[in-house]
Amino acid sequence: MGSQREFHLQQRKGRRVILFPLPLQGHINPMLQLASILYNKGFSISIIHTNFNSLNSSNYPHFSFHSIPDGLSQSEASFADIVSLLSLLNVKCAAPFQDCLAKLLSNIVEGESIACLITDSGWYFTQAVAQSLKIPRLVLRTNSVVNRMHLVPELPPLRVKDIPVFETRIPETLHQVALGLTNQTKVSSGCIWNSFQDLEQISLATLRKEFPIPMFPVGPLHKYFPASSSSLLSQDQSSIPWLDKQPPKSVIYVSFGSIAAINETELLEIAWGLANCRLPFLWVVRPGLVRGAEWIEPLPKGFLEMLDGRGHIVKWAPQQEVLAHPATGVFWTHNGWNSTLESICEGVPMICQPCFGDQMVNARYVSHVWKVGLHLERKLERGEIEKAIRRVMLEAEGQEMRERIVYLKEKVDLCLKQGGSSYQSLENLINYILSF
Ligand code: UDX
Repeated sequence: MGSQREFHLQQRKGRRVILFPLPLQGHINPMLQLASILYNKGFSISIIHTNFNSLNSSNYPHFSFHSIPDGLSQSEASFADIVSLLSLLNVKCAAPFQDCLAKLLSNIVEGESIACLITDSGWYFTQAVAQSLKIPRLVLRTNSVVNRMHLVPELPPLRVKDIPVFETRIPETLHQVALGLTNQTKVSSGCIWNSFQDLEQISLATLRKEFPIPMFPVGPLHKYFPASSSSLLSQDQSSIPWLDKQPPKSVIYVSFGSIAAINETELLEIAWGLANCRLPFLWVVRPGLVRGAEWIEPLPKGFLEMLDGRGHIVKWAPQQEVLAHPATGVFWTHNGWNSTLESICEGVPMICQPCFGDQMVNARYVSHVWKVGLHLERKLERGEIEKAIRRVMLEAEGQEMRERIVYLKEKVDLCLKQGGSSYQSLENLINYILSF
């Protein structure tokens, strides 16, 4: 990384980029990956972040971090209503963010200049701030291109039940957030996508017509520096030695990401579904995953002991390493966009269990367009779970999914190589930033 950076440093002549991630795990990861890529290309990096879900700066000693007060009360800082949280953050962070950005712009060191601001698309208030301070704003979209807000009732291949849904106390807030996000992206200086051309060609072409701004599909971002970590929770490293002991492609890896929640009954159905299919499993039960429980105490006493080492439960796993491990056979996922991309990049077929929002659309594309996963659509019930796992792990249908996802993985590898679409998009992005 060092020598490449030195080579690019000469050409960048002290250009600094300021990035502002949304304080949610699935949004922090791609933003910090983008920051690392830009750093490697010779830019200096400043990160503005909220106190809520504050970042661990020690993993990035070469970036400068600036924390702003978000003013959230303890009850407001909750994932229970993600739309209200987003709306609140956009109101409460406006003044502190403006102050922080203005300070950074006026305290610039000699020989340096600030090229642009890059914010998550969810920070829609920042467009007005950027305009008032006369700094170009680029937007990072951390979900799939197919996932623009689909407000029409039927949009093949999506059915009504695949349309993104968010549970929120005040439906009007959803409309306001969706509008803010779309409109403030449309008037930004450009949009960076954590996706790649070959996967989403048609959607990108449509989007380019609707959004008259430069588009940069540079993903998958995590492939540039697979080892870097911006995890808010510490990753349980016992997962890897446990996987080392399992036969190739035999393990069911289960994780529903950083926000989704289930109830106790669902926890038990998952547990028995996994136990009954008699295959090894690695299961991430994040504290907070089960509503009303601390962790896995609702499981029957002696559940894991009964499995005699066939099951391993952790609070948070090194997911990218788990997916890349030869023992991992299938990923039972909520289809957050990072998880979906990470699975594609390692050629691991999926069992799709979307919970809300963009996950519904991703699951539909995984199962019915790219055909690299099975959508668990019926009630979460142990018999259904066992059947689904067997179909993907043991039957010809699963083997076909595996072949298709390995083919997609090869496309990813190509798009990141010199001459590939993401490689070229990244070059275009760098030149664009340098033109400001
Ligand atoms: C959220 C939304 O839920 C999702 O729909 C949207 O696309 C992005 O923001 P999240 O639930 O966190 O995302 O899921 P996902 O996008 O998959 O991101 C989770 C990240 O956490 C991944 O990068 C994954 O590698 C990491 N992770 C997950 C771990 O490091 N360890 C784990 O045990 C589980």
